[in-house]
Amino acid sequence: MIRVENLCRTYGVGETQVSALSNVSLHIKEGEFVAVMGASGSGKSTLMNILGCLDTPTSGSYLLSGESIKEIDDVSLSAIRNKKIGFIFQTFHLLTRLSAQENVALPLRYTNTAKQQASERAMAMLDKVGLRARAHHKPFEMSGGQRQRVAIARALVNEPKVIFADEPTGNLDSKTSHEIMELLCTLHQQGHTLVMVTHEEDIAAYAKRIIRMKDGVVIEDSGC
Ligand SMILES: Nc1ncnc2c1ncn2[C@@H]1O[C@H](COP(=O)(O)OP(=O)(O)O)[C@@H](O)[C@H]1O
Ligand SMILES: [Mg+2]
Repeated sequence: MIRVENLCRTYGVGETQVSALSNVSLHIKEGEFVAVMGASGSGKSTLMNILGCLDTPTSGSYLLSGESIKEIDDVSLSAIRNKKIGFIFQTFHLLTRLSAQENVALPLRYTNTAKQQASERAMAMLDKVGLRARAHHKPFEMSGGQRQRVAIARALVNEPKVIFADEPTGNLDSKTSHEIMELLCTLHQQGHTLVMVTHEEDIAAYAKRIIRMKDGVVIEDSGC
């Protein structure tokens, strides 16, 4: 599913260069639930952004379900994101003017799915995350946990190959965090591939494999 070899990412130029990732090699199989852990600044988000096709590496190779990510342009990159990847963020990233259902339907609208069909599919995804009754509410009318459920439904709507979550519980209280993790576990049991960044041990414990990073390097991988 995901195969990276000797991934490097350097920010800036000349004397101000920062090496955010150096020689990261990983293999993640279909259906895995992986947590990436590490202190602030260890390169977790940089890695996620590259794996999620939001950024490209300075050097090294990345194969996502057999497709090489390095040699493609921005337009193809966004097409791959739309087709193969779902994102969940710490701050939810919902559009405030749209209802839950409209937010979830948005990725389908980008792929030119008919409006009626997109609405129906969005409703089915909201049902899956337990929010059917809130479909017509806007984000500000919902709790943090409900907003994250909407974001999870949106991440699922395109049937992505893999879901990336960067600190998905970072803005939630402890009880809500565990409810969201239960939902992610259910998705894993249903066969979804999940890669999650967290700095909390009790959140990482839900994953089946933990990759630890320090200063841009993988220092431990329970899957190896
Ligand atoms: N856009 C950027 N420009 C310059 N340096 C960056 C940028 N993004 C991240 N960095 C640096 O790269 C390193 C890794 O950052 P990041 O991947 O955000 O770590 P984490 O998510 O683990 O906190 C840090 O030293 C950070 O300061
Ligand atoms: Mg980060």
